[in-house]
Amino acid sequence: MMRRMRNIVILTGAGISAESGLKTFRDNDGLWEQHAIEDVATPQAFARDPALVYRFYNARRAQLQQQAVKPNLAHHAVARLQKEWRQGTVTLVTQNVDDLHERAGCSNVLHMHGELLSQRCCRSNQAVYCKEPFDATSRCQCCDPPSPVRPDIVWFGEMPMHMDRIEKALYNADVFVAIGTSGQVYPAAGFVAMASQCGAHAVELNLKASDTNTLFDEHDYGPATVVVPRFVERMLKEN
Ligand code: APR
Repeated sequence: MMRRMRNIVILTGAGISAESGLKTFRDNDGLWEQHAIEDVATPQAFARDPALVYRFYNARRAQLQQQAVKPNLAHHAVARLQKEWRQGTVTLVTQNVDDLHERAGCSNVLHMHGELLSQRCCRSNQAVYCKEPFDATSRCQCCDPPSPVRPDIVWFGEMPMHMDRIEKALYNADVFVAIGTSGQVYPAAGFVAMASQCGAHAVELNLKASDTNTLFDEHDYGPATVVVPRFVERMLKEN
């Protein structure tokens, strides 16, 4: 039984966007099968071969904007929970760099690993919306003289964003829900333990058991477009 439920923290991973046509990282045929992390997703890779790194993220940014890529029923269900939950807060933390949560109508999405539709000034760290391709010749608008820009992505070895707000939300959570994440990448993989230690009821929604599945109180395994709407429906009935 759940204790009185007020505050909900939802953590999403690549699995929630899989049925929208975006590849996950570690499943069969995932992104990290086709590209080595150390070639495209580390600060060292960017220093060694920036053209390759820009190309990798330009391609992903372009793919995200293809007409066929749209939010699915799971993104919409999360947005519905945020809008209709009256008892407390619904904090949405995502490891995803796509904008499908926003397109589904979610608000205040905490993108802990950055955003594809954004570029960041290498000097000031200021991020600005950007849906076009960019490369080593591109410059920011915030510095004088203008500085180079990089993908607004948190690479391996860099600090995730919004950790203060995320930790506060986990501390105050009554329910913690992890959706479509393999539990292989920290600090996100450690959120279930943090939330549980603070008394939250932990729910895993995934196609299959994640690496951290034993830490959850409850599981529902199936495609996100099925299990997430089912979970939201149940929560709102208890609302
Ligand atoms: N519905 C629900 N879950 C799914 C679906 C689906 N249709 N398809 C796949 N999954 C699940 C898989 O079972 C797996 O547990 O989604 C998870 C995807 O895991 P990863 O590919 O490891 O993605 P994620 O957990 O988001 O990766 C974390 O690692 O590479 C970095 O920065 C990158 O943000 C990413 C982080």
